[in-house]
Amino acid sequence: MIGVPRVHFRLTDSTNERAKALVETGAPHGTLVTADEQTAGRGRQGRAWRALPRASLLLSLLVRGLEDRHALLPLTAAVAVCDALPDLDCQIKWPNDVWVDGRKLCGILLEGRPQAGWAVLGIGLNVNVRPEDLPPELRDTATSIAAAAGEPRDVEKELEALIASLDHWIAAPEDEVLAAWRARDALAGRRVEWADGEGRAAGIDDSGSLLVETDDGVIELNAGEVHISRLPDSTDPRRCRCS
Ligand code: BTN
Repeated sequence: MIGVPRVHFRLTDSTNERAKALVETGAPHGTLVTADEQTAGRGRQGRAWRALPRASLLLSLLVRGLEDRHALLPLTAAVAVCDALPDLDCQIKWPNDVWVDGRKLCGILLEGRPQAGWAVLGIGLNVNVRPEDLPPELRDTATSIAAAAGEPRDVEKELEALIASLDHWIAAPEDEVLAAWRARDALAGRRVEWADGEGRAAGIDDSGSLLVETDDGVIELNAGEVHISRLPDSTDPRRCRCS
């Protein structure tokens, strides 16, 4: 069962680090680690993840025995987050950022060793963070459930809904996960850029890789970071045709 046992810290370094430490002790599939506050929260691409105490969900889930689904786990978690928030119009920016109104609501970090039969799924979900609580550099790009819904929410209730959703989606057939992910694809049809290329996002393949149409044909991106292009797009029908 997902979410049992649960270990909660008022303050810890990183829930992912604590969950990884529990792997060695034989903790079972579904073990949940939560925290009010982290001193060394980790994000993707080596970035830090900062959150004010008790205003966010900071959790890590130990997953065992799902090595055949490892690549799809972060995408699955993003679908579960969206599904746990039925009143918000959530989209997913490949591979697993959850957005509302083009702003990031939730980040997901998968760590682990599939060959050893375990993975830790770390989720940081902004619940009651107010726009003025965000550091200035994130005010235009981040949001929270309360900011999007217009009212504060109970963090523990959001956790309950998310755990139920994770329980459902982690056990769901892969084709259902892929269909649900594709229905929320924030990049579909948009011009995107990455470290050494650009093109038009064209969905994901069945392994979760991003497909991008480039001048040299369709390519697959299976790791890294892509950004929506800020350059004007001559083929985008939404572009102003001012003459
Ligand atoms: C991202 O960069 O978008 C992923 C952020 C993941 C943050 C969460 S918070 C709970 C868990 N513990 C961590 O140290 N990181 C993840």
